[in-house]
Amino acid sequence: MPASEGEKIAELAKRRGFFFGAAGAYGGVGGFYTYGPQGASLKRNVEDAWRERFAVQEGNLEIDGPTVMPEPVFEASGHLDGFDDMLVECPGCGESHRADHLIEDSTGIEEAESMPIEEVEALIAEHDLACPNCGTPLKGEAVEEFNLMFETTIGPGSSTPGYLRPETAQGIFVEFPRLKEYARNRLPFGVTQIGRAYRNEISPRKSLVRTREFTQAELEQFVDPERDEPELAAVADIEVRLYPATEQTADDGEIVETTIGAAVEDGVIANAWIGYYLGIAYEWYESVGVDMDRFRFRQHLSGERAHYAADCWDAEAEVDGDWIEIAGFAYRGDYDLSKHAEHADDDFTVFRQYDEPKTVETAVVDPDMSVLGPEFGGAAAGVADALQRLAEREPAAFEGEEVTVEVGDSEYSVPTAVANFRIEEQTESGEHVTPHVVEPSFGVDRTVYTLVAHGMREDEVDGETRTYLDLSPTVAPTDVGVFPLVSNVDYLIEHAETVAADLRGAGFSVAYDDSGSIGRRYRRQDEVGTPFCVTVDRDGLEGDGPDSVTVRERDSAAQVRVPVDDLVSVLLDLRGGVRTFDDVLDEYDAVSTSAEA
Ligand code: ATP
Ligand code: GLY
Repeated sequence: MPASEGEKIAELAKRRGFFFGAAGAYGGVGGFYTYGPQGASLKRNVEDAWRERFAVQEGNLEIDGPTVMPEPVFEASGHLDGFDDMLVECPGCGESHRADHLIEDSTGIEEAESMPIEEVEALIAEHDLACPNCGTPLKGEAVEEFNLMFETTIGPGSSTPGYLRPETAQGIFVEFPRLKEYARNRLPFGVTQIGRAYRNEISPRKSLVRTREFTQAELEQFVDPERDEPELAAVADIEVRLYPATEQTADDGEIVETTIGAAVEDGVIANAWIGYYLGIAYEWYESVGVDMDRFRFRQHLSGERAHYAADCWDAEAEVDGDWIEIAGFAYRGDYDLSKHAEHADDDFTVFRQYDEPKTVETAVVDPDMSVLGPEFGGAAAGVADALQRLAEREPAAFEGEEVTVEVGDSEYSVPTAVANFRIEEQTESGEHVTPHVVEPSFGVDRTVYTLVAHGMREDEVDGETRTYLDLSPTVAPTDVGVFPLVSNVDYLIEHAETVAADLRGAGFSVAYDDSGSIGRRYRRQDEVGTPFCVTVDRDGLEGDGPDSVTVRERDSAAQVRVPVDDLVSVLLDLRGGVRTFDDVLDEYDAVSTSAEA
């Protein structure tokens, strides 16, 4: 019997076709998973729900970029130099381990990732940590930085190195010069992308939680830091559980229960945009079925933050006794766009129009070259440039009789009258600014894993233990199961098939099943989280076809008889949350559920 929550998830996921380790026929490969029919549908529904909330409802753009990008992109982004984890190799069996995770697993220490390498080495020695694979002591072994990007070559030969993207975000940043045009050069605007990301994790583990290929749903919100404010009022009253950095480092630190509005006002959440997206995310997670009693937002400690982040909060869900990061919310400032502006040949700024045109005074020189030429020969042009730079930097230098500039190692003195210094007035209508970026970055796979973990339930129906998956109708892999009550009566099968076809025609995903007892068929759907089942029985037949069917709700196992003509609208309302099952029970006749066995 599977014992831990993690083992139960793995067992259910494999048996019922949610997800399982890929390429098992070839011995498997760590960190890669295949989603089976149920899991693929659940994952797609999670992505659709995310897209609906973070792209459509927020009025943001969506793009779909390549997963392989050339090396200069990651030189600019900092991933080539800084996207490392700490690796320690076992001298006995040669297995590689993530050094910070070994420490976290064996000592009470949290977030060892934020520690310097020397401290991690010292802790391995102090706690006598050994290889989890073969037990060889790791004391004295060097801890090294290991870059997580998968390298490849683009085209034949090795002259063009490329990398599988470690985050979808860079695909948005590199296209900023075009994306800003689509947004008509007006801040704020947001761009989303849902897609695969790749990290050569040192030790993939905990099923979908740490894989080498995974799906991110990311939003890059581009803002003018001096002008743009989010609509904080829309989320201000949402109650959240926060674990700020100060509480994590305090001896008696604890979770702070507050509202988004209060946390932003008190400065616990330093940036209003981050606060806004924490609020939106809280509501979204609740809507897709995360158990909010097993959910919190945790602020990164300063050493833990990614190389680009000025402040960062994680959404964390508790699974199997561990808190896992399911999304990160980073204030990336102008880091990314400035870096790409330095390395690439394009404009990563947006023009900020002033409210009123401004008159600015500019220092200019117009040196008399008929004097400078004969005087300084080949150095004359350099002297003229140096005079212009000095004028912009230090206009007072032109107040005396003579002005001196340096070109290379030599000094040149020029009479001020020859330099022709003056102040000119110019009218400017605006200025170029590099937008700042606020980034909510969601892990789709970790969300799927959390939904399965938080949805697993056991209860008793008809004196038998039943396992069911409490998935929200928004994301459940199948909307409705359709069955004939008994599986050996042809006309019931025929009618049930017609009902199934009609429901598919109305846009529902339907699992039709006529094999085994009705109780077993209900259990099969319960276990994969199908929220409603429709059964065609003799009681509902009238003339040539069914006049009414029973609709059963997964969680309560309660049933109600619904006229066939009302079936689509009832199921649409139930799926969309417009009506509850209790509303439907009030409207129609309840059915005794003793027939489930
Ligand atoms: P961790 O500290 O757990 O390695 P991270 O801080 O590196 O995660 P981010 O870089 O913030 O993660 O990535 C954004 C999101 O992408 C995470 O919140 C997570 O949901 C997801 N993610 C990151 N790495 C993995 C992975 N190896 N497997 C599955 N999902 C991942
Ligand atoms: N884009 C955030 C991350 O993947 O780290």
